[in-house]
Amino acid sequence: MSKFTVPGMTTKEEPRRRTAVVTGAATGIGAAITERLAGQGMDVVLVARDGARLEAAAERLRAEHGVQVSTLALDLSHPGAPSRLAEWLAGAGTEVDMLVNNAGVAFREPVVDSTPVRMRGLVDLNAGAVAELTALLLPAMVARGRGAIVNIASTGAYAPAAYLAAYAASKAFVLSFTQGVWAETRGTGVRVVAVSPGPTDTAMGMGRIRGKRAPGSVADTVMSALRGRGPAVVDGRLNALQTWVFGRLLTASAAARLTERFLRRSTHGG
Ligand SMILES: NC(=O)c1ccc[n+]([C@@H]2O[C@H](COP(=O)([O-])OP(=O)(O)OC[C@H]3O[C@@H](n4cnc5c(N)ncnc54)[C@H](OP(=O)(O)O)[C@@H]3O)[C@@H](O)[C@H]2O)c1
Repeated sequence: MSKFTVPGMTTKEEPRRRTAVVTGAATGIGAAITERLAGQGMDVVLVARDGARLEAAAERLRAEHGVQVSTLALDLSHPGAPSRLAEWLAGAGTEVDMLVNNAGVAFREPVVDSTPVRMRGLVDLNAGAVAELTALLLPAMVARGRGAIVNIASTGAYAPAAYLAAYAASKAFVLSFTQGVWAETRGTGVRVVAVSPGPTDTAMGMGRIRGKRAPGSVADTVMSALRGRGPAVVDGRLNALQTWVFGRLLTASAAARLTERFLRRSTHGG
């Protein structure tokens, strides 16, 4: 695989170490992405709620890749948490070359069985924190004329989904938001891209779905998306086909009805 370089960075500037901030970095897709970035020699800042798990991941990365790793235990769904992260980074004098908005939650359930708190928490994390962190860290990247923001969306972003209604809507926000920011930042030297995994073998466990992809495959897609130019990339050919069928071929109401039929039994445990 060719070596990844942050868009806009020239080799003359190479002596300065590069830093990536990855949210949801200790497990699943975030851990795989972090592994790739550290493998390319980037220092990393790991953010998630479970501090002990972050520290264990940090130890592994330092030992395997010899990069600098910092951790911050933070619940990004809490009001003001993204600002706390930005202040913490500024206080440590960390220039952020890359932001990977990966932390997310999914609740597979009918909305009537959910709780207002769960709904709000999902939207605040999956959509709110992504927009807020982008707004906090993008200006310095644009001012420097280099950097990258990767937002992890989902194939669920491309059409409404029953029993994953808030999740699919939150990921539709991530996709659309990223596409807009991509257009705004073209020519600035900052790469902005949304990467959409389909069912992936992680703790998120979207239920009994066959053909889940490995987190490492998603991480490889992220690395190639960073070298690409477009605003959005879907991980895996079958997933790309699915987003085309659900997002382009079907009407939104047909897609919602179809997911209701597909997911009814496994959601209600029948
Ligand atoms: N797995 C799939 O099938 C799939 C498909 C499409 C898209 N995705 C997306 O991929 C991303 C990563 O998910 P994953 O599959 O790798 O699942 P995962 O292993 O459960 O990872 C989610 C990460 O987010 C962190 N997190 C959760 N709530 C948080 C909060 N309130 N504040 C800060 N961090 C929080 C978790 O760490 P803590 O618990 O320590 O906070 C965890 O490290 C998500 O955005 C997800 O929507 C996954």
